[in-house]
Amino acid sequence: MAVDRYLYQLRLSDDVLLDVTARFQAEMGKGLARDTSPTAAVKMLPSFVRSLPDGSEKGDFLALDLGGSQFHIHWVKEFDDGKQSSQLESKSYPTPKEVMQGNGAELFDYIADCLSDFMETKNLKHKKLPLGFTFSFPCKQTKLEEGVLLAWTKHFRVRGVQDTDVVSSLHRALQKHQDIDVDVLALVNDTVGTMMTCGYDDQRCEVGLIIGTGTNACYMEEMRHIDLVEGDEGRMCINTEWGAFGDDGALDDLRTEFDRELDLGSLNPGKQLFEKMISSLYLGELVRLILLKMTKEGLLFNGKVSTALLTKGKIEMKHVSAMEKYKEGLSNTKEILTELKLFPSEEDCVAVQHVCAVVSSRSAKLCAAALAAILTRLRENKQLLRMRTTVGIDGGLYKTHPKFAGRLHRAVGRLVPACEVRFLRSRGGSGRGAAVVAAVARRLAAQRRRLHTALAALLLPPAILWELRDKMRAELEHGLKRETQAQATVKMLPTFVRGTPDGTEKGKFLALDLGGTNFRVLLVKIKSGRRRSVQMYNKIFAIPLEIMQGTGEELFDHIVQCLADFLEYMGIKGARLPLGFTFSFPCRQASIDKGTLVGWTKGFKATDCEGEDVVDMLREAIRRRNEFDLDIVAVVNDTVGTMMTCGYEDPNCEIGLIAGTGTNVCYMEDMKNIEIVEGNEGKMCINTEWGAFGDNGCIDYIRTKYDREVDEGSLNPGKQRYEKMTSGMYLGEIVRQILIDLTKQGLLFRGHISESLRKKGIFETKFLSQIERDRLALPQVRHVLRQLGLDSTCEDSIIVKEVCAAVSTRAARLCGAGLAAVVEKKRENQGVERLQITVGADGTLYKLHPHFSRILQETVKELAPQCDVSFMLSEDGSGKGAALITAVAKRLHNVGQK
Ligand code: BG6
Ligand code: BG6
Ligand code: GLC
Ligand code: GLC
Repeated sequence: MAVDRYLYQLRLSDDVLLDVTARFQAEMGKGLARDTSPTAAVKMLPSFVRSLPDGSEKGDFLALDLGGSQFHIHWVKEFDDGKQSSQLESKSYPTPKEVMQGNGAELFDYIADCLSDFMETKNLKHKKLPLGFTFSFPCKQTKLEEGVLLAWTKHFRVRGVQDTDVVSSLHRALQKHQDIDVDVLALVNDTVGTMMTCGYDDQRCEVGLIIGTGTNACYMEEMRHIDLVEGDEGRMCINTEWGAFGDDGALDDLRTEFDRELDLGSLNPGKQLFEKMISSLYLGELVRLILLKMTKEGLLFNGKVSTALLTKGKIEMKHVSAMEKYKEGLSNTKEILTELKLFPSEEDCVAVQHVCAVVSSRSAKLCAAALAAILTRLRENKQLLRMRTTVGIDGGLYKTHPKFAGRLHRAVGRLVPACEVRFLRSRGGSGRGAAVVAAVARRLAAQRRRLHTALAALLLPPAILWELRDKMRAELEHGLKRETQAQATVKMLPTFVRGTPDGTEKGKFLALDLGGTNFRVLLVKIKSGRRRSVQMYNKIFAIPLEIMQGTGEELFDHIVQCLADFLEYMGIKGARLPLGFTFSFPCRQASIDKGTLVGWTKGFKATDCEGEDVVDMLREAIRRRNEFDLDIVAVVNDTVGTMMTCGYEDPNCEIGLIAGTGTNVCYMEDMKNIEIVEGNEGKMCINTEWGAFGDNGCIDYIRTKYDREVDEGSLNPGKQRYEKMTSGMYLGEIVRQILIDLTKQGLLFRGHISESLRKKGIFETKFLSQIERDRLALPQVRHVLRQLGLDSTCEDSIIVKEVCAAVSTRAARLCGAGLAAVVEKKRENQGVERLQITVGADGTLYKLHPHFSRILQETVKELAPQCDVSFMLSEDGSGKGAALITAVAKRLHNVGQK
């Protein structure tokens, strides 16, 4: 046939199509990658739609659907009846040319007027309704409820809208209608709306396809491939805007002279070149241009060029569709051409029908090629060899053309045999999907609000922090004064450590370090003078729970057993070495080597120890074992050991801080202020035992119900209230209590409290530290939660992370307020305008938590503005400090004996 010469270029073999698939795959990659996306032809726009419908959407919604062949308004009712049923009431409004090609204000006023009319007729006025806005043009979104129009496409060209946010324009227009109250919650492309509409019926739907006035597709992409949106977890729907494929010349070899001519006569020359080869707005015109040329060359209509053939837009998609109804033979074709005043012969009819078929099947095949690229990408993302999936699809060309769907399906089948695709026609258009998106958005917003209410109690405004600083300060004074000391909650225990190291310490010592996360035995060799150095050997031993909470005798026997193992291991069993005992619990001391346990804290609760001298208990246990002898010279709190460890490096270190399993501070106090110890000269280290701050109820007003629950479930209810809000042993429990509460409120884990979440103590500090580590590493969060037996969604993990952050931030700020009180006191003691001081710090929370130490330091700065506080991390633990104290005590002892 002579026409074939013309049509040759329009026929695309499967090889060519596979090549198109490969080209489109490359374009998608470009659109997603940070470096190439600004100049990419295929824009790959993030839609901020992160999940498919899950059936939990319910309520009344409005939907606007603008940009296809019709402008619709819908009222969508999603029922909560477990059957995912919904009801749709719709009305379509005309979109006159003045509106499509006028100015922006007119367009949005028109939309608002139609909406107002719709609400009037449906009796919806004065009802507050959420609205989903399907706007079928390329928009750059940074969130769901905002979108900047990149360019008009298809038959729209409205002035003053490009580069502006269409949602605010709509809001502005709606404000003029006092009697309607709608909240535009989501802006979605029609492809996205279609995918969501279909996703409602088939959960496997992860692609949305439009082949109508325009053409476009969206699909669910892995977040980790979307450079332009932060976060790596889960998926997000990408609006490919594939209509612009080829705008950079990528399809030039496939475009014919007719495509070029059509483009030149369009509203947006050079743009949407792929769309112009495919969609219904252009299909009839392509046919017309081909027929015109053929007629001019005498191949049709006896060479007679009629006005109809010369009239732009004369042949429409509906004509093409009708002419391709082959079942009806040529009669349809003849009728239509006659109607168009083209008066064909029988032969003309055959030729025209042929042209239509070639043009529309090219369209179907090109669509298939691009869709094949998307399907392949999905399959590769899922690392599957074969994939079953569903494509939600809408648009006049697909739905009304007699052959189009079949051609598309068959071509896809040939191009991607590894994918089994179900093509699902959208029922009720994209409006329903937009309503679903709005519903999800509304649910998330409500969730946010409730989450913030729950966490609000953990916020500590500056005024409260200042108040807490002052309260702590008052408690410190109480503990020091003779009259108030007995009732004081912050006990301010004298340690009989009177100075920080001066470098003259030397010798070989043993140290025990009991009460933190690890129990250690150490051998410390200290050299003084020019060869000043400290060498340490240590071994960590476990203390089983049944020993921590058994009898005192068992506990101390166990300690001595570990000591014996260590001496054996080091080969020093025979030497009677001096020993410093770091014992991280409150002890009332009468000298450096005497310490009566006031009360267990943290996880210890061995019987028959409280009120006893722990040094005696240790000596007796050594005697019981009768295997070796040791000279126990000093018992020190871990804060004191830490201060000494750091003091060895920095003489200005006069404060020791522990933020670990428990929390506590010691500092060098002027003797004259310590009323219960004789003498007014010099200084002595005071172990504040500030963990008990608030045990008299003075901080109850900031304690939440979660704190009370944690306290009640602890080994020492009512005790160590400050510690229970600030230290590692309890933060995880607070988090757990909050998570349980949020789950009960239906805000987490789909309202299901799992067995793991019921388990006390599942959240150790190390998990908190992991969860909060990197600001956005949600996969890690989910991984940690999974380790804890908590199956979380992406949304869950975001919430869990926020809860952890709220709890640890509060802890750091509280601790900072306490420390500010201590440094301020030191400043006043010294009577200086500005104080320079170093705090030696240790503890897992301080060391391992990603933000704790920073927030703590910031808070101290804020609340003690006249103090320049340096923080020194104790690298070697408190054992070294205990050995240094032992060295000094031993020397003094020896001097005393002489
Ligand atoms: C409709 C959808 O069914 O199809 C619209 O609701 C979409 O959102 C339209 O734009 C596309 O088809 P057409 O043929 O109307 O452009
Ligand atoms: C260690 C000290 O480094 O930190 C211990 O050597 C101290 O003495 C401990 O008790 C505190 O931290 P945590 O987190 O182990 O309780
Ligand atoms: C045009 C628009 C696109 C839309 C498509 C189908 O290509 O740019 O956003 O999805 O038409 O309506
Ligand atoms: C607890 C102890 C205290 C110790 C602190 C840090 O608060 O009572 O003595 O210093 O924990 O380990």
